[in-house]
Amino acid sequence: MKRTFIAGMLTAGLLLGVSGTSFGAEHQTKNPYEGKAKMVKEGQKLYDYNCKSCHGEGAKGDVCPDLTVKKKKYGNSDTELFKTIAQGQPGGMPNWDKTLGTEKIWKIVTYLRSLEK
Ligand code: HEC
Repeated sequence: MKRTFIAGMLTAGLLLGVSGTSFGAEHQTKNPYEGKAKMVKEGQKLYDYNCKSCHGEGAKGDVCPDLTVKKKKYGNSDTELFKTIAQGQPGGMPNWDKTLGTEKIWKIVTYLRSLEK
């Protein structure tokens, strides 16, 4: 009995581990931090460090697109923004999934939403 229980626990752990790792960037559809003030601040720090050199102060655009506009070339839904940032875009936008990972990308999305007009 005891053995079966332990084996069951191990299998459950294994399954969780596997599904955890397969939960990649392409499955991210909704921002878990939406509207959270603390995340806006954290996102701003991440933005300033990683994105400002190209997209400018306050994401108003510089050599690269203005990110405060609602109408974006590659779409403006949570899914589309996440995908653009995680996977990059052909016109010179780098991919960030490896450098930043899911949580940091969502923090930056939260910051960008706070700037939207
Ligand atoms: C090396 C310069 C560079 C850096 C750094 C950079 N980007 Fe970009 N980004 C670009 C370029 C160039 C484009 C336009 C790509 C295109 O049109 O195909 C772009 C496009 C985008 C778009 C799509 C805009 C639209 O209209 O659809 C988003 C969103 C975006 N970047 C977010 C970010 C975020 C967030 C970061 C920081 C994590 C970042 N970028 C860092 C160069 C950069």
